[in-house]
Amino acid sequence: MSWMRSLGCVFVLSYCYLVLQTDAQITDPSEVAALKSVKKNLVDPMKHLSSWERGDPCASNWTGIFCFDTYATDGYLHVRELQLLKMNLSGHLTPELGQLSRLIILDFMWNELDGTIPKEIGNISSLQLLLLNGNKLSGFLPDELGYLSKLDRLQVDMNYISGPIPASFANLSSVKHLHMNNNSIRGQIPPELSKLSTLRHLLLDNNNLSGYLPPEFSDLPELRILQLDNNKFIGSGIPDTYGNLSKLAKLSLRNCSLQGSIPGLSSIQNLLYLDLSKNELNGPLPPTLFDNITTIDLSDNHLNGSIPRSFSNLPSLQRLDLRNNSLSSILGEVNLPENVTLRLGGNPICHDANIPNITQFCEPEAGGDKTPERLTNSKVSCYVQSCPTDDFFEYVASSPVHCFCAAPLRIGYRLKSPSFSYFTPHVNQFEKYVTRSLNMNSYQLSIDSFFWEEGPRLRMYLKLFPPVNNVHSTMYNATEVQRIRDIFASWQFPPNDFFGPYELLNFTLLGPYGQSMYCCYFFQAKMKFQILS
Ligand SMILES: *[C@@H]1O[C@H](CO)[C@@H](O)[C@H](O)[C@H]1NC(C)=O
Ligand SMILES: *[C@@H]1O[C@H](CO)[C@@H](O)[C@H](O)[C@H]1NC(C)=O
Ligand SMILES: *[C@@H]1O[C@H](CO)[C@@H](O)[C@H](O)[C@H]1NC(C)=O
Ligand SMILES: *[C@@H]1O[C@H](CO)[C@@H](O)[C@H](O)[C@H]1NC(C)=O
Ligand SMILES: *[C@@H]1O[C@H](CO)[C@@H](O)[C@H](O)[C@H]1NC(C)=O
Ligand SMILES: *[C@@H]1O[C@H](CO)[C@@H](O)[C@H](O)[C@H]1NC(C)=O
Ligand SMILES: *[C@@H]1O[C@H](CO)[C@@H](O)[C@H](O)[C@H]1NC(C)=O
Ligand SMILES: *[C@@H]1O[C@H](CO)[C@@H](O)[C@H](O)[C@H]1NC(C)=O
Ligand SMILES: *[C@@H]1O[C@H](CO)[C@@H](O)[C@H](O)[C@H]1NC(C)=O
Ligand SMILES: *[C@@H]1O[C@H](CO)[C@@H](O)[C@H](O)[C@H]1NC(C)=O
Ligand SMILES: *[C@@H]1O[C@H](CO)[C@@H](O)[C@H](O)[C@H]1NC(C)=O
Ligand SMILES: *[C@@H]1O[C@H](CO)[C@@H](O)[C@H](O)[C@H]1NC(C)=O
Repeated sequence: MSWMRSLGCVFVLSYCYLVLQTDAQITDPSEVAALKSVKKNLVDPMKHLSSWERGDPCASNWTGIFCFDTYATDGYLHVRELQLLKMNLSGHLTPELGQLSRLIILDFMWNELDGTIPKEIGNISSLQLLLLNGNKLSGFLPDELGYLSKLDRLQVDMNYISGPIPASFANLSSVKHLHMNNNSIRGQIPPELSKLSTLRHLLLDNNNLSGYLPPEFSDLPELRILQLDNNKFIGSGIPDTYGNLSKLAKLSLRNCSLQGSIPGLSSIQNLLYLDLSKNELNGPLPPTLFDNITTIDLSDNHLNGSIPRSFSNLPSLQRLDLRNNSLSSILGEVNLPENVTLRLGGNPICHDANIPNITQFCEPEAGGDKTPERLTNSKVSCYVQSCPTDDFFEYVASSPVHCFCAAPLRIGYRLKSPSFSYFTPHVNQFEKYVTRSLNMNSYQLSIDSFFWEEGPRLRMYLKLFPPVNNVHSTMYNATEVQRIRDIFASWQFPPNDFFGPYELLNFTLLGPYGQSMYCCYFFQAKMKFQILS
């Protein structure tokens, strides 16, 4: 009997312990204070943060707060993630955020925050994802952000940030993604950034940058995407050294006021996308480019000479735009496959009567540089009306079981810097990429619609359906919803240069997923994850 008594004791003790813990502080008190300050400085018209008024952040399921699930040696739970994507929040970011000293993800994407980025964020040495894009933040980027030595991803694009890029960013020794496009960032790009040995994507398009392109960037061993369109590097050229960026997949320098000639790019074996249009470049076209290139846009420059023979047998080519240059001849024939868009208008070559069929490629502008591609899926027709007639359930188009009815998860998604010009030939490849990353079957994903936006960027609306299996579930369970959201919101997709980086625009839980048990914000126990890309 004595073992039972001691077991009972243990039960009683652990019960007491739990009760005590509930009464006492569970989350680190300085973090609780910081979160209260976060809320105080926000305007929350939809009352998304009403749960922040009761109990303890980690114990009482505060919306958007995810904690480590074990107590730290200091006896407290600590906040691991603050995820407040698209919640109609305005107001500003409190300097107290710096107190969340073990935070890994700070996510305020797609709200309406104004004010500046607090320099105190630079004190969160554990931070891996800093996601502030799609707000109305202004002011300068604080030098202190350069202290974030574990930062993997900085997204501050689509704000009103001004001032220069701090040279201290050279100390972001783990950073892979710097997305700062669509702001008013000005001045010289610091050459010191060439120390960023892990940097893969640098997006600074649509800013007010000036000065020169740092030749030192050829030292960036992992650089895949360099996108700087719509800046003013007046009088400067494309450094010759860029031919040494051996892993580069996309070079986009449209409308950058660049002069001089195009450097040799023939050693960039994986170059997929080259846009140097709307500059003042002169000299000849690059003599060779590698096989995998999909897009060459050199329109609106002062390029002269001839179109090299090698351009007519690039097997992956989708678009070759050479309009408005001074090209006078073509070596070889104009017999590109039909699915290649070739534009030559505005070159002397168009007046050469000796080249058969040239005129069809010489038509004036005629809105030709917008891709009309767009897709909207039609509904599946089923005789058996076993699907609720609300907007939340539908028949799964490519399900292996005919007329399988289920409620999809709906995800607003955008490819921010794709390395192709036409999506239709790659839809299958894309579906495989996404579903494999999510550990799903490809029929579970449906691209509800997609269309091209300025950039070019490719916006889409994805639907994810539960699998057809012996459980016969027409919905995802709550654990699955959380798992899927986690993968999207922490960028766990394997890197892919062809599709490039993506943006998560919304992850909306509607209809049957709207119940609180589904609302992913209410879970504490989350899977451990690694940030891969
Ligand atoms: C927090 O959420 C979990 C999972 O939904 C639930 O079991 C628990 O009762 C909630 N706790 C509080 C205090 O609301
Ligand atoms: C919330 O934001 C959406 C767009 O993001 C907007 O259409 C809506 O009016 C906003 N609602 C409120 C109450 O601000
Ligand atoms: C950052 O932390 C250090 C020490 O932990 C402290 O001295 C400093 O004031 C903090 N800086 C900011 C900007 O909060
Ligand atoms: C990087 O950090 C070191 C020491 O932490 C500092 O001395 C240096 O100035 C920083 N680099 C830049 C470019 O700010
Ligand atoms: C970025 O800025 C450009 C130029 O102002 C604009 O055309 C484009 O739509 C913006 N991009 C986004 C994603 O808003
Ligand atoms: C760029 O700077 C110029 C002059 O300094 C200013 O007029 C313009 O509005 C700025 N553009 C952006 C996008 O910030
Ligand atoms: C490329 O790198 C090699 C070796 O590192 C160097 O010899 C060469 O000059 C570089 N080429 C350019 C164009 O910078
Ligand atoms: C072209 O793409 C294919 C398939 O993605 C790849 O196997 C090949 O290595 C690439 N070629 C070059 C020269 O990079
Ligand atoms: C163009 O069409 C050919 C054959 O129809 C196909 O093999 C090729 O992959 C297509 N190219 C692109 C870039 O879509
Ligand atoms: C020129 O176009 C005509 C009709 O479009 C086609 O039959 C002919 O093969 C073309 N010639 C060349 C050399 O491409
Ligand atoms: C989510 O994003 C998609 C695609 O951009 C859009 O069509 C849809 O209206 C968005 N939903 C919400 C609730 O914002
Ligand atoms: C949720 O669904 C997944 C995948 O279908 C399954 O493995 C898991 O056991 C389910 N969890 C619960 C709590 O039902």
